[in-house]
Amino acid sequence: KIQPKTFFVGKNLIFLPSCHSTNDIANEIIQNKEFIDGTVILTDHQTAGRGQRGNAWESNIGQNILMSLIVKTTFLSLEKSFDLSITVAVSVLEALQTLGIQNTSIKWPNDLYINEKKTGGILIENSISGNKMSHSIVGIGINVNQTKFENIRATSLCLELKQEQVSREIIVEKICESIESNLELLKSGSFKKIKEKYLLNLFGKDQLRVFKSEKGIFEGEIVGISDQGHLKIISQNEEKYYNIKEIEYLFDD
Ligand code: BTN
Repeated sequence: KIQPKTFFVGKNLIFLPSCHSTNDIANEIIQNKEFIDGTVILTDHQTAGRGQRGNAWESNIGQNILMSLIVKTTFLSLEKSFDLSITVAVSVLEALQTLGIQNTSIKWPNDLYINEKKTGGILIENSISGNKMSHSIVGIGINVNQTKFENIRATSLCLELKQEQVSREIIVEKICESIESNLELLKSGSFKKIKEKYLLNLFGKDQLRVFKSEKGIFEGEIVGISDQGHLKIISQNEEKYYNIKEIEYLFDD
């Protein structure tokens, strides 16, 4: 029943009632045989869902979107691997926006936020061949119909939209469609446009925010992203770049 209006993203759809992690399944597919570019693996339940920074990705059974996309990325040079991460984040954001969801933003590097709460996450695993990219596994988790969360900074589409049920199928279709069109932009050399959108929707940009680094807690302002994807923060008139392990947001609560 999921039929995205695309040429390749999500044309080959694999649904598994349960699995360890859709990213791992995608990896097995790549290892075992010739894979179809744009293959999407969907599941209702992961026993070993993975998130960024080595975290686990927890999700109630049958309520949310747990998907992985396999894409050939031979068109991207190794130094540009972060461009894909930005492209996917913008795509998911646009998919949610076309569905009329408001107050969406991207929290660096690629978390999806609605009203200052996390609704989705992205975990990209790149395969490299020689000194070039060969293909990427794009894992996307979106909280759709789950209503209870342990983390107070987590939410779902149904909670934010105040609806009883939100269609997961339509969202998956929209995500496939926007990923495909943005991948085309990326391939045609229009990454600048995508990055502009990313910066426009970047959580906390140009606002005074509190961060934690190894040097302690400090106030600063996010002003941009480096080409490698490092976060650029100005604090006390000093500009600094941070990678994902070096910096953390602190919220008031
Ligand atoms: C994060 O925010 O930490 C990234 C979360 C990514 C979760 C998705 S769910 C589908 C895919 N399979 C996984 O094991 N992880 C990703």
